[in-house]
Amino acid sequence: MTDITTAQQDRVQIFDTTLRDGEQSPGATMSHDEKMEIAGLLDEMGVDIIEAGFPIASEGDFAAVSDIAKNAKNSVICGLARANFADIDRAWEAVKHAPRGRIHTFIGTSPLHRDITALDQDGMVEKIAATVSHARNLCDDVQWSPMDATRTEHDYLCRVVETAIKCGATTINIPDTVGYTAPRESADLIRMLLERVPGAEKITFATHCHNDLGMATANALAAVEAGARQIECTINGLGERAGNTALEEVVMAMRVRNDIMPYRTGIDTTKIMHLSRRVSQVSGFAVQYNKAVVGKNAFLHESGIHQDGVLKNVQTFEIMRPEDIGLTAKNIAMGKHSGRAALRAKMAELGYDLGDNQLKDVFVRFKALADRKKEVYDDDLVALMADSSAGD
Ligand code: KIV
Ligand code: ZN
Repeated sequence: MTDITTAQQDRVQIFDTTLRDGEQSPGATMSHDEKMEIAGLLDEMGVDIIEAGFPIASEGDFAAVSDIAKNAKNSVICGLARANFADIDRAWEAVKHAPRGRIHTFIGTSPLHRDITALDQDGMVEKIAATVSHARNLCDDVQWSPMDATRTEHDYLCRVVETAIKCGATTINIPDTVGYTAPRESADLIRMLLERVPGAEKITFATHCHNDLGMATANALAAVEAGARQIECTINGLGERAGNTALEEVVMAMRVRNDIMPYRTGIDTTKIMHLSRRVSQVSGFAVQYNKAVVGKNAFLHESGIHQDGVLKNVQTFEIMRPEDIGLTAKNIAMGKHSGRAALRAKMAELGYDLGDNQLKDVFVRFKALADRKKEVYDDDLVALMADSSAGD
């Protein structure tokens, strides 16, 4: 069994594919300038590898990947290519401008994909050998992916991974293309490859999970526990169908539960919220209110019991500090479930120091208003106070 114990082996590389897999979400197309801005923010945040696009897909994609490569500061810039020389050459033309460029080439290896490409097992192995060798002749940093790996026969998966390593791949990505796997299986697959494939200890294994069954984050973290050291993810979990592993979720999970997941990333988490908002704005994909980490409600408390708790000790109902993801907004939402303690605290924040009798009066009128409205905003509370002084 492979021993993952040395000091630097707790470092997990973050590979962001918001601009490639994320942009493949129907309707999430971003403009050139928007892609440049998002890439700059990802680089600043400490993303190790940015998959900037699919250079052969269009002139626009090519221009975006090459301009992002030219402007890269710290991140490796990666371009996607299918298993053919034209795609690989085009990806290299785009990423070669980066201080550090990467070619990511892939082919579907499961029986379903072999069928549609009309290749038998041997034919596919030959194609992998030729294309990975070609990419490696152009670039020192080559990532190879057996698409639909989680539905590929284990013996065959070992064979194709071994071929790609022998031909020079430096990262092997194991995609759960259709979000089909589950955490234990995701871990077992990485462990199996590390144990069975000759040369596996020399390369980095990556995990690339889709969220069709809502398990992308759990599957990615399970793969890391088994030895994967690169997580492929997107901001807000943007991506094909139900999306990819969300960057903010895996990064914060490893940070908050470092006691049981002792891994490090290079991410400056205080930049998460700004990136989440910008990606939502430029892609046009709203973030669901109750989305983990970055949802509007992720740090908001409305019920009286919860509000009372967080006012006394915020840790009663919060496991992360909002400022750790760059959030400065207040965490009390006023609504019909809110209690007196929260109303008094909120009013104090707005500059009203309520005595007990006044609180009683305002609380009754606040409850009546909250019954009519979903959320009571600061302006509504100021209006309530104006009404009560008019009646004095
Ligand atoms: O989901 C997938 O299999 C992919 C590959 C191109 C890596 O996005
Ligand atoms: Zn994908």
